[in-house]
Amino acid sequence: MGQIISYLCKWRYPRTYKSNYETIVSQQDNNESKPPEQHCIINISDQNETEKQEAVDQAEKDYHKLDDDDDHGNEQIVVEDAVQVEVVVENNVSTTTNTTISNSNRIPSEISSVKRIGQYNSTQKILLVGDGDFSFSASLALAFGDSALNITATSFDSQEFLMNNYGKFFGNKAHLQARGSKVLHDVNANKMAKHPILINYLYDRVIFNFPHAGRFTHTDSNLQKHQKLIRGFLRNAKKMIEDDGEIHITSKCNGFYLKWDIPKLGSDLGLHLFQEMKFKRGKYPGYNTKYGFGGDKNFDCNPSKTYMFRLL
Ligand SMILES: C[S@@+](CC[C@H](N)C(=O)[O-])C[C@H]1O[C@@H](n2cnc3c(N)ncnc32)[C@H](O)[C@@H]1O
Repeated sequence: MGQIISYLCKWRYPRTYKSNYETIVSQQDNNESKPPEQHCIINISDQNETEKQEAVDQAEKDYHKLDDDDDHGNEQIVVEDAVQVEVVVENNVSTTTNTTISNSNRIPSEISSVKRIGQYNSTQKILLVGDGDFSFSASLALAFGDSALNITATSFDSQEFLMNNYGKFFGNKAHLQARGSKVLHDVNANKMAKHPILINYLYDRVIFNFPHAGRFTHTDSNLQKHQKLIRGFLRNAKKMIEDDGEIHITSKCNGFYLKWDIPKLGSDLGLHLFQEMKFKRGKYPGYNTKYGFGGDKNFDCNPSKTYMFRLL
């Protein structure tokens, strides 16, 4: 319960609320035994209205009890004086419809839906950088359905290049736009913070899957080009995330790719690498990893990892 309330407080008051909960979730994610839980779940599928209200009342009592205690096991719950905690009630653990009820026992007027895929959910403002055929972004948008408005998908390449090279690009772009996602081309990771459209937003997640500067021999000078791209991406992404936002880089994690030393590139820029997670392409149906230099072949992305950074 503490974890649940901790998450809710953080979601509601991202700039003022601090918690260890995300660390705990992250450790669970490492095992990949179950997807991260992002909100409070009280299973009330078989309950009538009175029982539902009792469940909510009990949840609130539990919260106040926790608030009075200093010690919550592994969690440190810090609640600002004026924080009004919200309890999310879900009709069924596997459903995606939540009802939000404030602790003043007001009956909720709004119903919201949260959709999830892999590490991501539809409440997050997500910026995707350096897309190939837009199949990763489309996979998120398809999962989020009519809640994909928070996605901005971008490519470094021009629309013309994408049309000429990727058979599924056009369909993927159509899926994104039909669900309200933004699609932009010619976006350079090295200067995206100054992009005339992107400059207006802050994101919860900025994601670059398999950044690559386009040189495929494993020489030292190419290593420097890849590192320059990643440094430029991180430097820009840092300015584009919310205070509690995250920057995710997925990259191969064997041989030459380990020499890129992505954790060090992040720490040199004052970013905190809070998690490295094995990447599983299968979690994102339809995602095809593209080389990026032309042609529609997919590359084998195993083994790979997602490096996750936060602001210090
Ligand atoms: C190996 S491909 C990966 C493509 C795609 N992210 C995927 O997972 O299929 C590398 C991508 O990095 C992009 N890229 C290279 N330089 C870039 C830059 N300066 N800004 C943004 N993207 C860049 C290329 O356009 C290419 O699509």
